[in-house]
Amino acid sequence: MNLNIAILSGDGIGPEIIREALKISQVVAAKFKHQLTYKQALTGAVAIEAVGDPYPEETHSICMVSDAVLFGAIGDPKYDNDPRAHIRPEQGLLSMRKKLGLYANIRPLTTFKSLIHKSPLRTELLDGADFVCIRELTGGIYFGQPQGRSEDGNIAYDTCVYKRSEIVRILKLGFQFAGKRRKKLTVVDKANVLATSRLWRQIAQEMEPNYPDVKVEYLLVDNAAMRLIQWPKDFDVMVTENMFGDILTDEASVISGSMGLLPSASVGVHTSVFEPIHGSYPQAAGKNIANPIAAILSAAMMFEYAFKLTEEADLIKEAVEASIIKEFVTADISQGDQGQTTSEVGDWITSYIKNK
Ligand code: IPM
Ligand code: MN
Repeated sequence: MNLNIAILSGDGIGPEIIREALKISQVVAAKFKHQLTYKQALTGAVAIEAVGDPYPEETHSICMVSDAVLFGAIGDPKYDNDPRAHIRPEQGLLSMRKKLGLYANIRPLTTFKSLIHKSPLRTELLDGADFVCIRELTGGIYFGQPQGRSEDGNIAYDTCVYKRSEIVRILKLGFQFAGKRRKKLTVVDKANVLATSRLWRQIAQEMEPNYPDVKVEYLLVDNAAMRLIQWPKDFDVMVTENMFGDILTDEASVISGSMGLLPSASVGVHTSVFEPIHGSYPQAAGKNIANPIAAILSAAMMFEYAFKLTEEADLIKEAVEASIIKEFVTADISQGDQGQTTSEVGDWITSYIKNK
């Protein structure tokens, strides 16, 4: 099979972790006799610096003609500390999502037995936790208009908007995921306060009879935040709007022991994007110390979701798990304080796959 991917490394640790994810994708492709070709393209702060646009037209064209996009991270402290900056790296990520029609962000949370002690939660709460968060990605307060400031600059506003069609398509995905898993769907909203949430809840209730084998639970977002740390094993599939999903998945990510472990897939109308859920981690950039596992597992999701090659995806996951069991890992999850470098971990996983 021809696998034609776009590589958008972005900012901070992006280039280092994507290098490993690409290396592993190449070795898996070779092992299963696929032809992998890739094109690199600019995004984020590096794209602003090079061409004045965090998601340049050329990058978008490359994404559109590719079978999948492997994405690193976006963000630079230079812009975070300047609330008046007119162009920001994050706008690149948002316009990529919008232009590619990536309305669903799939974030699986699994735990690794040998890392459970790294979690801030007690082992008995966590052992066996396994759920997927499906976050709506192209609507809500992130994109609603109007957004801006009053003329005197002293009033600012954002607008949360959802259309029925946007809610139906994401809930449908939630029901389908739940149907293939443990058949429990948790719809997270703030229906006691927000009109958009009440529309979400109404539509979910209308859809329920079409999925009789799925048990639906409605949870207010504040309560969901609490339940996530109190009883994470209770969740199977969670579906929620854009900003709630952003916040809850960061919370969920530390449960697994390190944010450096969790991958994601963004799917929708055009080419799907695969990216770790952690950010650009600028403090570690260029030091070869960042954990490449989230990026490598994002490559596994790429094989599974974009190419429908599950055997290849499973082999990557197996190799990652083996490196964790062997404790051949970066400092954030290592027992001692040393740990291996980013590229050493990538090399170990590469040779595991080669020798399998
Ligand atoms: C994420 C990130 C982005 C988001 C930022 C960088 C715009 O936090 O992918 O979760 O808020 O969606
Ligand atoms: Mn986030």
